[in-house]
Amino acid sequence: MQVQVNGITMAYNDRGAGLPIVFLHAFPLNRTMWAAQEQAFSSQFRTITLDLRGHGESDAPLWHYSLDQAADDVRSLMDALSIREAVFVGLSMGGYILFTIYRKYADRVKGLVLADTRAQADTEEGKEARFQMAQTAYKKGPSAIADIMIPKLLSPATVQTRPEIVQKVRSMIEGNQMSGIVGDLMAMAERHDSVRFLREIACPAQIIVGELDQATPPADAKLMAEQIPGARLAIIPGAAHLSNLEQPEAFNQIVASFMADLAKRRTV
Ligand code: MLT
Repeated sequence: MQVQVNGITMAYNDRGAGLPIVFLHAFPLNRTMWAAQEQAFSSQFRTITLDLRGHGESDAPLWHYSLDQAADDVRSLMDALSIREAVFVGLSMGGYILFTIYRKYADRVKGLVLADTRAQADTEEGKEARFQMAQTAYKKGPSAIADIMIPKLLSPATVQTRPEIVQKVRSMIEGNQMSGIVGDLMAMAERHDSVRFLREIACPAQIIVGELDQATPPADAKLMAEQIPGARLAIIPGAAHLSNLEQPEAFNQIVASFMADLAKRRTV
């Protein structure tokens, strides 16, 4: 499905009925990374997966990108779909966008699942690495980005023994336009530090991290869990950064239990 938001065409799926769950994907992927979650949750909840600006089937204009803009796009999609409040699941860059959504539109958020993400802004070294990756994307195209990203996103065991997952990730990355990849890198390099803001998060929060995640390691997840009042932390054994793809059953079980607890709160 497609909708016009903030001057672009945005692609999304809207499945099932009930309390909405909005899934925000990682860099440089697209909404299909949530296929196993969409399948598991759409029998009980309204599940929305979307291609962020610059990704998949959404437009990737050649212009300035920011996490504020991404948050506004998500809010506009919710408005277009008449969704007042939702639970959000954001993985990695999706989590960075979630902090921005909460900062700007807390009244639209019923609960937060922050997966394989971090609250800290980029270090100077991290910003330099983004700049270098943007140059690689510009000179060599998305397949060079796939070569760099796959070992960061997946565990060595997945890379060696699960070619179907590696191929799925590669084709998501290669399906992106350069403008989107480079735009995201700039947006992530410019993002705010959210560490001090963690204590102000007042809605239920679940933190998830793959035990082997090197991009946003368990120490980053523990920091969020310590600082967000009442947050819960789950570490998924054997998973790296894309924990929802590598260990979908474990990931879904954690989200299902979070959703069940949210439902209990609503009825008390
Ligand atoms: C992601 O998975 O979204 C990226 O690894 C995030 C990042 O590069 O900081």
